[in-house]
Amino acid sequence: MRLEEAKRDYYRRLAKDEGYRSRAAYKLLEINRSFHIFSKGDRVLDIGCYPGGWLQVASHAVGSDGLVIGVDVKEIDRGKDDDGLANVKFLCMSVEDDTLALRVRELLGDNALDVILSDVSPNLSGIWSLDHARQIHLSRRVLAITRLLLRDDGCAVLKIFEGDLLKEFIDEVKTHFKRVYIHKPKASRKESSELYLVCKGFRSSSQ
Ligand SMILES: C[S@@+](CC[C@H](N)C(=O)[O-])C[C@H]1O[C@@H](n2cnc3c(N)ncnc32)[C@H](O)[C@@H]1O
Repeated sequence: MRLEEAKRDYYRRLAKDEGYRSRAAYKLLEINRSFHIFSKGDRVLDIGCYPGGWLQVASHAVGSDGLVIGVDVKEIDRGKDDDGLANVKFLCMSVEDDTLALRVRELLGDNALDVILSDVSPNLSGIWSLDHARQIHLSRRVLAITRLLLRDDGCAVLKIFEGDLLKEFIDEVKTHFKRVYIHKPKASRKESSELYLVCKGFRSSSQ
């Protein structure tokens, strides 16, 4: 077995043993360990959340005073006893839906979001440049929602694929955050072109 396959298998088995819905959970756990994303009581939006590994990590990190809102085009299975998703609300919607920000606002009441997460990924065609362009398009939609709903000084974690359009997108993200780090978690496969932008210090005045 090649090293990368062994690594993928390792995280898949670990997720099963530790009760996570996906091995993606380990990427967010590592990002949170390195960059301190969550605080107790935070309000979090997780876009592209199915099957829910990140929801479990965020839900646990913000605790019972916090709130996590998950969004995906695929319905999540809440499992028995909510399976670690007690403080999680879910919207079965596309990030491309123009009413999404309004629906999230209804759930938030008067509060803004402290954290926005996006692990959104289009159905992969295998054509690298096409998948990259689609993913950047979805990430731009996430950025538009971020600009509407994130509180001043809030943070975001955005999955992106490497490619021609990336630099322009990162430059755009940098106009809205004080600090933007590019991070490849250990649980992310080396051959995958995915990276994560860890964005801190949102400038709400940059609208
Ligand atoms: C890599 S998975 C997310 C895994 C998740 N973070 C976890 O921890 O289990 C990417 C998700 O993006 C979702 N997605 C793709 N296009 C979308 C769209 N237009 N709006 C919302 N979600 C979308 C897919 O349905 C898929 O579930």
